[in-house]
Amino acid sequence: MDKLLEVASLTKIYHNGREKFSAIADVSLSLFTGDYLSIVGPSGAGKSTLLHIMGGLESPDEGKVIFKGRDIYKMKNNQLSLWRNKSIGFVFQFYHLIEELNVLENVALASFLKRRKSSLKKAQILLEYLGIEARKHFFPSQLSGGERQKVAIARALVNEPQIILCDEPTGNLDKDSQERVCELLEELNGQGVTIVLVTHNLELAKRTKRTLFVRGGELEEEVNSQ
Ligand SMILES: Nc1ncnc2c1ncn2[C@@H]1O[C@H](COP(=O)(O)OP(=O)(O)OP(=O)(O)O)[C@@H](O)[C@H]1O
Ligand SMILES: [Mg+2]
Repeated sequence: MDKLLEVASLTKIYHNGREKFSAIADVSLSLFTGDYLSIVGPSGAGKSTLLHIMGGLESPDEGKVIFKGRDIYKMKNNQLSLWRNKSIGFVFQFYHLIEELNVLENVALASFLKRRKSSLKKAQILLEYLGIEARKHFFPSQLSGGERQKVAIARALVNEPQIILCDEPTGNLDKDSQERVCELLEELNGQGVTIVLVTHNLELAKRTKRTLFVRGGELEEEVNSQ
């Protein structure tokens, strides 16, 4: 399989007043085209930090993220934004919806930026699939946690990205919605989309192709039987 994204010896240091500590230290992993990787580990292990760095949202203090042979943090800021918009779909742990836009506009926005005529149509289809079409004119403040999560998922998918990075995408969902999201991710992966799923839910993790356990700052890999 082709190596799509390579994470090489990443370290991220945060400052807490005068204290310094590394949220992730010397982490390396490879993501292949068509991969479905889950990352599991305790709270504070650095999973979100790792995902943000992999998606070009936060630069590391040491190490590299290589996409198809290109070091993404060597790109100029606008190139990096373009790459992110084109290649990455991000489902954030805390949704990050735009409060001033309604559901439909939140979902369509990423695609509007590429001036796609079909953006609203696609947003509509995703909202229908996720069962929140009836909320499309609501604003984020009028939604439940689970509904916001679904909007965040639809938004990540609207651009048909090559890689989807999901940070606990089903944390606030009931069983049925959880299953629907899982099936959607599996379907997309079947179509060749590469997925990284950060989750505390071991059942979800087992459904991916391989799982990385973050333990004491180190990564251990397990290949899941399909
Ligand atoms: N912007 C920041 N400034 C300072 N410290 C931070 C920042 N972001 C994260 N951290 C710290 O880095 C560590 C890793 O955080 P991170 O959010 O990556 O953990 P996580 O594995 O995603 O946890 P959870 O499972 O609870 O989501 C934590 O100790 C956190 O307090
Ligand atoms: Mg997190």
